[in-house]
Amino acid sequence: MQYDVILPAAGSGKRMGAGKNKLFLQLKEKTILIHTLQVFEEDSWCRGIYLAVKDTEREVIEALLQTHGITKVKAMPTGGDERQHSVQSCMKEIGQGEIVLVHDAARPFITQSIIHELAEAALEKGAAVAGVRAKDTMKRVEAGVIQETVDRSTLWMIQTPQAFRFDWLKEAEDAAERDDFLGTDESMLVERQGQSVHIVESSYENVKITTKEDLVFGEAILNQRIGG
Ligand code: C5P
Repeated sequence: MQYDVILPAAGSGKRMGAGKNKLFLQLKEKTILIHTLQVFEEDSWCRGIYLAVKDTEREVIEALLQTHGITKVKAMPTGGDERQHSVQSCMKEIGQGEIVLVHDAARPFITQSIIHELAEAALEKGAAVAGVRAKDTMKRVEAGVIQETVDRSTLWMIQTPQAFRFDWLKEAEDAAERDDFLGTDESMLVERQGQSVHIVESSYENVKITTKEDLVFGEAILNQRIGG
């Protein structure tokens, strides 16, 4: 089967405190952005990559794509102020399709087997997202005081990729725009349309590189993978 993937890459990465887009930071000898792009470049199911970028970073990214032989990028629209708007600008570029995946460019450790599970689940059921079970005891807190202990067995930490039938995501985005609704992920937009979104159990290695500590963790994952 085939899918298109949207990679929002137009964030500022303030929480990293690197003074530049965190996607340009190196993990081993490659930038985080290239690590992520290579996973999709090498996946025969991936038909095209749509990358939302900042205008000021477009040239640097084009040069990186050339250096690393990334050929599947079909469009690089300008990202928006919010991640949701960056994804939306990529949807406009795709125009129409069957299955679309949305994946944070800042999650370089995603594997092909999870991607394929998600794409197949979206084809069969309409919408599926990657997630892992909550490991810690979870409590709801207000003003610094615990209100309740939440039943952990029902809680999942949601990641990307998130995979959808193209029309489902398009309709959900249009509705969100009409209602001025801003979600923290694409699943939220589809959920509010009353659709069932399924979970594909992912890996704790599929971290989003957000703070400096994540870089240390990222290097460790790469070392372990190289070591075999
Ligand atoms: O900031 P955060 O790590 O949550 O961003 C997740 C992904 O969304 C990153 O790959 C980032 O580059 C992208 N993003 C974007 N446009 C924004 C904000 C974030 O493309 N306005």
